[in-house]
Order: sequence, then C-alpha cells, then structure tokens
Amino acid sequence: MESIITKAEQEHTLDKEDIVKLLKSNTDDTEKLFKASDRVRQKFVGDAVHLRGLIEISNICKNNCFYCGIRAENKAIDRYRLSLEEILSSAYRAYEMGFKTIVLQGGEDSFFDEDKMSYLIKEIKKFDVAITLSLGEKSYDEYKKYKKAGADRYLLRIETTDKELYHKLHPKMSWENRKNCIFMLKELGFEIGSGSLVGLPEQSIDSLADDILFYQSIPLDMAGIGPFIPHPQTPLNSAIGGDFELSLKVMAITRLLLPDINIPATTAMETLRKEGRRIALQSGANVVMPNLTELEYRKKYELYPNKANTDNLSDIKEKILEMGRTIGKDIGSHKKSYEERKENK
Ligand code: 5AD
Repeated sequence: MESIITKAEQEHTLDKEDIVKLLKSNTDDTEKLFKASDRVRQKFVGDAVHLRGLIEISNICKNNCFYCGIRAENKAIDRYRLSLEEILSSAYRAYEMGFKTIVLQGGEDSFFDEDKMSYLIKEIKKFDVAITLSLGEKSYDEYKKYKKAGADRYLLRIETTDKELYHKLHPKMSWENRKNCIFMLKELGFEIGSGSLVGLPEQSIDSLADDILFYQSIPLDMAGIGPFIPHPQTPLNSAIGGDFELSLKVMAITRLLLPDINIPATTAMETLRKEGRRIALQSGANVVMPNLTELEYRKKYELYPNKANTDNLSDIKEKILEMGRTIGKDIGSHKKSYEERKENK
C-alpha cells in the first residue's frame, strides 16, 4: 500500500486497480494516505484556507433527486425564495465580513431567470468579490448570460459517474446532459467545481474509483466530495448513508491525483462527524464554505438533516488558525501550478 501512496504523491497518477486498493485499505494505511494528501495540499496550494460565503437563495426545486431533502415531491417542507433585495443585502454583509467569494446556491427554481440572475450578478460584482453560482442545469445561452454579467465560477456536481445509478436516483434527468453542462460552462470560461456523493445505495467502490478518474479526465478547478446523509422525507430515508472515512479517502485520493485544485471540507463531512471539517482540512482540503443564509431560511434549506447546525464563522476561523493554517487573503482561484510544473519539465 505504501508504494501506491508514494507513487500517487510523487507522480499524481494511479490506475483504477490501485485506487480501489486504497479505497479498501485499513486504518494504518489510511493514516498514511491522509498524511500524504496533507503534504500534497501543502506543497501545491499552501496553508491558506479560502472561505466562500454561501447564500441559499431558494429551496424551490423542480427536480426529484431521491436523496435530496428539497426535492419537488417533498410536501412536508416550507418553501422559500429570498427576494432580490434580501440576496443583495446578504451579499453585501458577506463582503463586509471579508469574504472574497460569494456563492449563490439554490434549487432549480425558474423564478430566478436569466434577467434576475444577471441583475444580481452585476450588482454583487460591484462589491469586488468573485461570484460562484450553484443553480443546476441550464441552457448554454443562460450560462452565457451569467458569464457576461460577471459570474466567475459554477458548481455542478456529477453526483456519481455510475450512469445506471444516476438515472435511478434522478428521475427525468440525464447524466450526459449534466456532463455536457460541465463542458459548456468550461467553454464559457467559468472555473468549474464538480464532485460527488459517497455512500449512495448500490454505489460500489469501483464506481468511486471511476468518480476520481472522472475528475482527472475533465478540466476541473474544484472538487466537492461528501457523504450521502439520508433525509427522512425522501425515498432513501431508510438507506444506510455514507461513511465518513470512505468519504475522506475519496477526497484524499482526489488531492493526490489533482494536486493543485481547490477542495472544500464539505459541510456534510462536518455534519456526519464532530470535527469533520478539521479532519478534512488536515487530509487534503483547502476551502471552507460557511453558510451565511439567515437562520430562518437556513433551517428550510435542508438537503440532509442537521445541515444548518454546523458552527459559526468566528469558530471556523479560530479553528483554522489553531491548526497553523491561515485565512486566504485573495479570491482563491484555482492556481494551475501542477500543469505549469509539468510543462516546464
Ligand atoms: N446528503 C448529502 N449531500 C446531499 N446533497 C443533496 N442531498 C444530499 C444528502 N441527502 C448534495 C448534492 C448536491 C449538493 C448541493 O448537495 O451532492 O449537489
């Protein structure tokens, strides 16, 4: 196992068989994996932890993803949609708090059409921050308008690369279309964040290895990986859910193979395990996305249980500094040092 970790740490490449071995490895080996991943993080992206302020603009969604608490068929939740003024005042507050990136995330809610989004993007851009959008699948023209208005990045997880499983879990959606969206966004000049869920029902170790290889095969700038946490008001309410260690392994191997990308310590990691965020930051992650949504709405944006209960900004900052890390001072874009090093060889 050690030779596989050393190879990944030095060459940033592994074949599928070795990835599967690492994913199945036991505690002693995983400790080595996490340490190697932490070293690669340090070498390629440094000690800065970049903070992104997350604003959850709407929990209205037309989709019916089997795992997600805000799926259209969940009649038991209160739906909300922030007004444009509320979004702009939250974004301004985020800017005043020192955030260099603001993430607008929401369900696929047609209320936020291209005109409203363009208006929001243009207004928020006046604060001199980077804007990340996470609003699901749209048309090329719509993405183009977001870009023209000034948006910088887009998050669209592939969720799983097992197409059969994808189609079981996402009624009326298409894996190919989701992948195409990622490529359209890249072509339009967005920085791209993708990622997947770990521990979905019927998801194999083999397919988790495929997920990691998929990230390597696309022009990725950020990878968000987190455990699936069953939500009581979804068809997967009695599923077992993702395992913290396995999610951490997927994340750590992703760091070894894509050494210079941004990797968040996801909220789902923190929800599943006390100190999960700190552990992730010490196993390859370099980004945190504190939730800035007002509490009354945050409670309603329940993709999975207890999502809203993760700690506040000053605690997060304090913990980062306690770890000997620093808070990112710039906008924290993907710095492609690995590609440059390869080219200079
Ligand atoms: N558990 C963990 N993550 C979830 N997401 C949605 N539902 C759940 C859940 N039950 C994730 C999806 C989506 C992101 C915004 O939240 O991966 O892309």
